Amino acid sequence: MKPRVLSGMRPTGALHLGHYHGALKNWVRLQDEHECFYFVADWHALTTHYDDHADLERNVYDMVVDWLAAGIDPDRATLFIQSRLPEHAELFTLLAMGTPLSWLERVPTYKDQMKALTGRDLATYGFLGYPLLQAADILIYKAAFVPVGEDQSPHVEITREVARRFNHLYGKGQTVLPEPATLLTETAKLPGLDGAKMSKSLGNDIAMREEPAEVERKVRRMPTDPDRVRRTDSGNPERCPVWRFHKLYSDVDTRAWVVKGCTTAGIGCLECKQPVIDAILREQQPWRERAETYLANPKHVHWIVEVGTERARTMARKTMREVRDAMGLNY
Ligand code: TRP
Ligand code: SF4
Repeated sequence: MKPRVLSGMRPTGALHLGHYHGALKNWVRLQDEHECFYFVADWHALTTHYDDHADLERNVYDMVVDWLAAGIDPDRATLFIQSRLPEHAELFTLLAMGTPLSWLERVPTYKDQMKALTGRDLATYGFLGYPLLQAADILIYKAAFVPVGEDQSPHVEITREVARRFNHLYGKGQTVLPEPATLLTETAKLPGLDGAKMSKSLGNDIAMREEPAEVERKVRRMPTDPDRVRRTDSGNPERCPVWRFHKLYSDVDTRAWVVKGCTTAGIGCLECKQPVIDAILREQQPWRERAETYLANPKHVHWIVEVGTERARTMARKTMREVRDAMGLNY
């Protein structure tokens, strides 16, 4: 039996290269050695954007298409949508009864997001409950591993505490809800075009399915070392966001060519950017091909999600029967 992995993403719409290199690439890789459950955390999207649901459905399916395009294999991984499984809400409710408020209030993302998302109403019960809903997502499938970025590891930590407390209160010496472990994704960080974190709202992203001409245009317009004003000025790659793309996309020889060419003004910035453009286009090619077949047949995508959701439901229902039994709610 392969160990079970579970992870979710909020449906932000079509994914960009930051999502791919930060998470999705790892999800694809994990399929070889693990039983993988990947889901669309659409309720989690509502915790911060409850009044902004107009594009939800499109965002959900755009994201699923990108998962499939990246190489998530529906024959090996179970793909599903959180809101189709009310069992998650039931477990969330039952866990909520015994979860101290202070555990949720002290989660670092709670205060951080309050500061970061200034335009949003985050003074809601749903937003405070975000990590507990995440705990329910994880525990209901008895996942052994949760692959997440570093920012999410406090949520897995609280999941472990919640499980421990549940087992202590209701388990009668048995482990009803196993504690999951974080599987930290160590990835080469890909910044946005301007060197800040890649994000669609900052307009510094390249979509996974960005048109080739757009990829070329965007990379050609990337800022470079600010001190390299003229072609004859030498530059310092460490001050240049293009260099960070080379670190991810280029081989040793190309990187040596960049360092030498940049520091001696031997190459121009457009010349330096060309291997990055080529590498991105090469990387996108198989995604484009796979996406095309799925986009030509949206019913197939719905079917994949349907099958995954029913597979998940079988497991979620089984856990809920055990949870209700343990809590004496089996009447
Ligand atoms: N909070 C996660 C994020 O924003 C998404 C998520 C929801 C999740 N439930 C989960 C991730 C369960 C892992 C496991 O990225
Ligand atoms: Fe950046 Fe390359 Fe220009 Fe140097 S030559 S400043 S690394 S784009």
